[in-house]
Amino acid sequence: MEDKIKALQEEINQYTVQNEEELEAYRMRFISRKSVIGDLLASIKDVAPEKRKEAGIMLNQLKNASQAKFKELIGELEAQKASKQQYDVPDLTLPPIPDELGSIHPLTQVRNRIVEIFERIGFQVVDGPEIEDDHHNFTALNFPPDHPAREMQDTFFIEKNPDIVLRTHTSSVQVRMMEEGEPPFRAIMPGRVFRNEAISARAHCVFHQVEGLYVDKNVSFADLKQTLLHFAKELFGPETGIRLRPSYFPFTEPSAELDIWWGNESEADKRITKGTGWLEIGGCGMVDPYVLESCGIDPEEYTGFAFGMGIERIAMIKYQIKDLRLFTENDIRFLKQFSAFN
Ligand code: DAH
Repeated sequence: MEDKIKALQEEINQYTVQNEEELEAYRMRFISRKSVIGDLLASIKDVAPEKRKEAGIMLNQLKNASQAKFKELIGELEAQKASKQQYDVPDLTLPPIPDELGSIHPLTQVRNRIVEIFERIGFQVVDGPEIEDDHHNFTALNFPPDHPAREMQDTFFIEKNPDIVLRTHTSSVQVRMMEEGEPPFRAIMPGRVFRNEAISARAHCVFHQVEGLYVDKNVSFADLKQTLLHFAKELFGPETGIRLRPSYFPFTEPSAELDIWWGNESEADKRITKGTGWLEIGGCGMVDPYVLESCGIDPEEYTGFAFGMGIERIAMIKYQIKDLRLFTENDIRFLKQFSAFN
């Protein structure tokens, strides 16, 4: 009996627990009714009477020790649990999870900015269809049938005779606006346009334009020039220069090409600007009296200016992008660079 008690005392001293199950195993072995200690207490009657008292004392000590150890083990397990919980609290020193929000496409950002600039000086935004009839895309804009000027723009045809086309420019929306309303008009018309052109760093078959139209009494070429200069300075900064080069469009008279200063230092600058430093971003002019008349507006009473600019071209200048194709390739590494401008 004595040896057994000593062995059990030793076992209790060595005991450790890692979890609830092990604690329960301890309880079953040493504390419960059917524990080894319970068994020994029951068998004390078999001990020789002269040794019984001593055995009783030892057994009692063992029982107390086993209970004290039990409390100790409970305490240890709780402490273990508490320290584990500390790990569940987020570690605030870890680096943040990267923000994977998308960003607004650079062309949309530029379009929004253009709209903002013109809205502030009283232009409204007007929309028109991408699939157009010949009348709105060409005839009403003074492109006579079979006139070579139609070949300025390589057209995608959807139907022939009568012709239905993908609009080659946003100027078609000017016609719709003037036909449907009464002057004065002061609007910009951003949108997608289509031309049957080979894709290169400078040209694409799908691109974006923003058209402008201002028709009222006494609108002059000076108004056009000031409006464009104001726009360029707002968009590119106060130092920006513009250049108007005489040109030809069937629907304006006089007509001009609008250039923005890009720079002429690097090889790429020279390639992009064909060695001039200037980049053409659109056309403009005074609305041809014939166009006003064919849209039901009296050219004796009203005059107007119009312009059409390429949004890709403007974005290229603003962000120094040297290849037009980047806008449509949707390479995330390219697009990501514009999230800061949102
Ligand atoms: N529609 C012309 C083009 O796509 C651009 C243009 C030139 C628009 C002169 C105009 C304008 O409104 O007045 O090349």
